[in-house]
Amino acid sequence: MIQRYCVDCQMFYVCNKNRIVSECEQVPHKPQYDLRSPGLALGECPIRISIMDHSKEFLQIVGEVMPRVKEVSVAEAIERQKNGAVLIDVREDSEWAHHAKDSVHIGRGVIERDIVNQYPDKSTELILYCGGGYRSALATDNLQKMGYTNVWSMAGGWTAWRASGAPTDVEIPLLMADTEFDPRARTLEIAAEFAERGDPVGWFDALYKEAAGDNEKIPWADLETNRFFKAWAEKTGLKGEGRKALVVGCGLGDDAVYLDDLGFTVTGFDISPTAIEWARKLHAGSSIQFETADLFQPFRSWLGAFDFVLEVYTIQPLPLEIRPKVIDSIAGFVTPGGEIVVVTRGREDDEEPVELPWALSRKDLSRFEANELTQTHFEIMMDDSDEAPGPRFVATYRR
Ligand SMILES: C[S@@+](CC[C@H](N)C(=O)[O-])C[C@H]1O[C@@H](n2cnc3c(N)ncnc32)[C@H](O)[C@@H]1O
Repeated sequence: MIQRYCVDCQMFYVCNKNRIVSECEQVPHKPQYDLRSPGLALGECPIRISIMDHSKEFLQIVGEVMPRVKEVSVAEAIERQKNGAVLIDVREDSEWAHHAKDSVHIGRGVIERDIVNQYPDKSTELILYCGGGYRSALATDNLQKMGYTNVWSMAGGWTAWRASGAPTDVEIPLLMADTEFDPRARTLEIAAEFAERGDPVGWFDALYKEAAGDNEKIPWADLETNRFFKAWAEKTGLKGEGRKALVVGCGLGDDAVYLDDLGFTVTGFDISPTAIEWARKLHAGSSIQFETADLFQPFRSWLGAFDFVLEVYTIQPLPLEIRPKVIDSIAGFVTPGGEIVVVTRGREDDEEPVELPWALSRKDLSRFEANELTQTHFEIMMDDSDEAPGPRFVATYRR
């Protein structure tokens, strides 16, 4: 994923297909400067504007230097490295423990002080990277001011390097990788990397991509219907009878398949194109319509159009600041008389959500009622599995 900051409107523009953001018709504002990065393809792309958590002031200074900074993609950085370019990791010492293969470390705090001693020839090709491409842009600008003529910033930084599967200098031995890979820890790591670069919702597709077809690398993707939802559905004798159902953040589509089997006409959507492609392959024989779509920018025809909306674990990993907006969007899909079923990790109203995924409280859920829905059922079920212990809420609403 490539994202660019526009100094003019102070927004990030994100293209999750690594395409040229400035040429996408869906961008409501044409960013002030040319955002092209070498190696990116032309074409249409779904765009979304990310919710950032970097300060406005930091983004402002990044935005100011971006027009002067030349960027390379990960693929191009690797090619250039083969031809002698020096890849420099400008992150903090503590971040250097894992780094791009054959890179050198000169932290951003010392790079202006040390670069001339280390690379006195100012035409040396240097490619700088950080966590997500902002700190390296600032450092690139400074080196240019010092007279370096062939210096580049790697778009997306370490996050993009990892997501692309490019080699790292800390090789995980195969045996360790097989036995000790911890999908939850990796999920937290990748989510933190994206948050660090100001994109707390962009990590899903990177995680699906990195899993490369192995569902065990994705904590929630067990290829089974969610058991709490299934327990509720069996208890209530849920039947589709041709009604239209929408599965929000459907991932690999296991709950969509269950609804399909119950006789619903099912659409499942997810922001991750990789997940959707994967779901289509897994359920090729079904008549489920799987679509790549963003909850915040759904197809207009979906609004108020579904008799049954299922939301399992999509609200909880999204940032707390946008939780009401997430719930409003989900509520918007259901038709008058229709029903929404929510399955989520639960917490007490007075408990702080600790870490991702951030459990919902009953107070959080009351946002559904603020959307002219009536709660028709609420139940607490316990998950006592080792992997994800704790209460689950199953709540249903009717319009
Ligand atoms: C924790 S996973 C749960 C997936 C699935 N519901 C399940 O239980 O297996 C959350 C899912 O929501 C998707 N997602 C996150 N943000 C989204 C958005 N803005 N629009 C649509 N899907 C989104 C993610 O890609 C991911 O597949």
